[in-house]
Amino acid sequence: MTLKAGISGVGFYVPDKVLTNRDLEKMVETSDEWIRTRTGISERRIAEKGTGTSDLAAKAALSALQNAGLKAEDLDLIIAATTTPDMPLPSCACLVQAKIGAHKAAAFDLAAACAGFVYALVTAEQFIRTGTYKNILVIGADLISSYIDWTDRSTCILFGDGAGAVVLTPAKTGGILSSVIGSDGRHADLLKICGGGSKFPATAETVKNKDHYLRMTGSEVFKLAVRGMTDAVTESLQKANVSLDQVACFIPHQANQRIIDAVGERLGLAPEKVFVNLAKYGNTSAASCVIALCEALSMGKIKKKDKIVLATFGSGLVWGAMVIEW
Ligand SMILES: CC(C)(COP(=O)(O)OP(=O)(O)OC[C@H]1O[C@@H](n2cnc3c(N)ncnc32)[C@H](O)[C@@H]1OP(=O)(O)O)[C@@H](O)C(=O)NCCC(=O)NCCS
Repeated sequence: MTLKAGISGVGFYVPDKVLTNRDLEKMVETSDEWIRTRTGISERRIAEKGTGTSDLAAKAALSALQNAGLKAEDLDLIIAATTTPDMPLPSCACLVQAKIGAHKAAAFDLAAACAGFVYALVTAEQFIRTGTYKNILVIGADLISSYIDWTDRSTCILFGDGAGAVVLTPAKTGGILSSVIGSDGRHADLLKICGGGSKFPATAETVKNKDHYLRMTGSEVFKLAVRGMTDAVTESLQKANVSLDQVACFIPHQANQRIIDAVGERLGLAPEKVFVNLAKYGNTSAASCVIALCEALSMGKIKKKDKIVLATFGSGLVWGAMVIEW
């Protein structure tokens, strides 16, 4: 028998330090007004130096476990969606495993940039559906501030650090109804960090060239994000046989208010159904959707039996959408 998977606990963590638009005005040629009207972002959280993604992720993980009423030893598997692990080896998931004491779990990272959380949920779901595992911790976490060029006004205004986690378990009713993931590597150049990998390992020259920072062609990414998320949501609703009217809450990747508005308009979604917390956190990459899910729940926007839709998009290019009955 094929089992269904559902979310039985959620949690998130963001660093205390707040970087406001006014702070950025002192660092690059920009203005609070420009950032708010072009992106919808007012402030973002930035981790202190010496912090790793696994530190943020472990805090989110413990909160999700508590919310699910489970102990770390109950976990069978940990999947950490991140493209900013503490270091190339070992994985962020293994570091989280040690920090929370989930010694019986297998653990691995999954790299799908800002779409990582939905990719990781889809992956975890397969282990539940086949009956292989019962309790899976799915994390979306990124400490992207380490890769930001704080002199590049086209990118430094957009991003923030954070982590979110959910516990995925077999569900008797509801749970994940459908999902869609996709990618198009032909657009790999639009959003990338070139230095510090196997092709261009760190040298004095790569550091001098600032190759270790994130670079982006913002306007192209914008257009493809709108198309990618709209199509993924449409397809996932069709697969789940769920109409737009039945959707109680839409949780998009929190990258830019104008992207979110354009997706909502194309889908024909009522604006009050679209959850946005972008102003407070900016784009937290793989953590964005899961932090938004946590806040939507705590604000009472999602109730038992509600149908919700997650949609993500990121470097790769990659995208994903998922319909869940709560
Ligand atoms: C980055 C982004 C906000 C830029 O907004 P935009 O409306 O496309 O702006 P443009 O890039 O066309 O730039 C318009 C002007 O603003 C300037 N500008 C860029 N950043 C600025 C800033 N922070 N402050 C002030 N001016 C800025 C540009 O230099 C340009 O000036 P010019 O016309 O004199 O050349 C927008 O393209 C975006 O959000 N793209 C998607 C990015 C994203 O979400 N990436 C992550 C996906 S997971």
